[in-house]
Order: sequence, then C-alpha cells, then structure tokens
Amino acid sequence: MEIVIRTTAEAAAELTASVIAREIRGNPHLVLGLATGRTMEAVYRILVRKHREERLDFAEVTTFNLDEYVGVPREHPGSYRYYMNEHLFGRVNIESARTFLPNGMASDIPTECRQYESRIRNRGGVNLQLLGIGRSGHIGFNEPLSALRSRTREKPLTPKTIEQNSPMFGGPDQMPRWAITMGVGTILESHRCILLATGAEKAEIIAKAVEGPITSMISATALQLHPHCTVVVDEAAASHLEQTDYYRWVFENERDWADFR
Ligand code: F6R
Repeated sequence: MEIVIRTTAEAAAELTASVIAREIRGNPHLVLGLATGRTMEAVYRILVRKHREERLDFAEVTTFNLDEYVGVPREHPGSYRYYMNEHLFGRVNIESARTFLPNGMASDIPTECRQYESRIRNRGGVNLQLLGIGRSGHIGFNEPLSALRSRTREKPLTPKTIEQNSPMFGGPDQMPRWAITMGVGTILESHRCILLATGAEKAEIIAKAVEGPITSMISATALQLHPHCTVVVDEAAASHLEQTDYYRWVFENERDWADFR
C-alpha cells in the first residue's frame, strides 16, 4: 500500500483523476471500476474537464460500478446509475453499452450478482478500481463483517451508512436498506486500486484502514492485502495517521510518482 498526502481535497481529487487519465491514455480499452458518493464528485468533474480540454478519450473504456441500491429504479435521483449519468457518463464520450452497474431492480438478485461477476471476468477483470471509504470503513457497500473473500452480493446497510446517505432520499425513512455490492474479494482481484478520502470526518477511519490490523469489521483494511493499492488523502483525512513523514518521503522518492510531484 502507498499513501499520498495532498494539501487540499481538490489537490487529492486532481491527483486521483490524473492517475485515472494516465491509465486510460496508456490503455484506451481500460476496464475501470467506479465508485459514487460525495468525494468522487470532484474526481468526475476533473475527468470531464480533461475530456473537454485535453481530449481524454473514453470511447473504448468499459466501466463497472461497485454498487447499486436494491429496489431503486435507474431514473430515481438517488440511484447510482442516475449519479453516474449526471456526473460522468452524460458528459464524456463513453458508450452507454460499456457502462455497467448492478441492477438493483432485478427480480432474481442472486442471479444478477453472479452475472455481474461473470461480466467482469469476461472482460479480463478490472484494471483500475476507484474507491471511496464510508465512515463505517466500508468499500463499496461492504459493511462490517463482510467476508474478506466475499463476492458480489446483496448486503444490508448499517445505521451509520443510512444516516450518511439518506439526504439523497429525503431522510432515513425513505432510504433503501439493501444494496448490491462487489465483494471484498472481487475488489482485491482488481489489478490496481486507488482509494480517495478527504475531510476531517474520514481521518479516524483512514488511520484504522491504513495502520490498523486487518479485520472484516473494517472492509477497507483488506486493501492491505492488495498488491498495488494507493490511498490518496488530503491533510485533514491524514491527520490521524502516525507515519506521515515516511509516506511523504516515499512519494518524493518513488519513480512512479515523478510526473505527479
Ligand atoms: C459508493 C461507494 C461507497 C462510498 C463511501 C464514501 O459507490 O463505493 O463506499 O465511496 O460511502 O462516500 P462519500 O464520498 O459520500 O463520503
């Protein structure tokens, strides 16, 4: 795992978007794993800008989102399909047939989950997986006690997640209780992943995820097992980390980051 600390949330999002852009330029057929949530809005805004101003080309890119609510139609403003259309898909030259999210309206959810896994496999796996982190420590919707080898499945949401995400549904009572999510095992199979966390409210969970012991109570700790995982944080989200001098030194000296310093 490598930790990159940027001064501001905007700079952290800029670096994350630049990593994604570099991967797309290096492989126009990239299979890109995507996340939603407030943190990612800045990343998508920057990618849209790169598409418009720097000709970043999404024509051959395939995307797989981490998760979708169960029982929420795609036209609903709270659905993740709606979010993706608003923030990215509707603003760049991506083919909609190449954009995949789990179908939370499927009549047979277990079959939908199995098919989602095979769609990923049939495209050779996810090359680069973008991740956020919830205050419960989830990645995707892998809430506490998600098996570290779990696959795409239906998962009940914790009260903390319901509180965190309910504004999009007009309050906790209207908020769905279940979601389909890629499993922790599915995420760990991505060739590379990049987790972005910004703001002081993520500081405590980031310290646990990065420097704490691996536990299924905090799914993000499983990323310590990933062979190529980058965690990008702003100063606020880094504020509870203990080894920041070391992380900064690695960033300044690692050849891979030369273009980003
Ligand atoms: C959603 C997802 C979640 C979010 C997390 C953080 O697709 O993967 O794990 O990344 O809940 O959300 P924000 O950015 O709203 O704090």
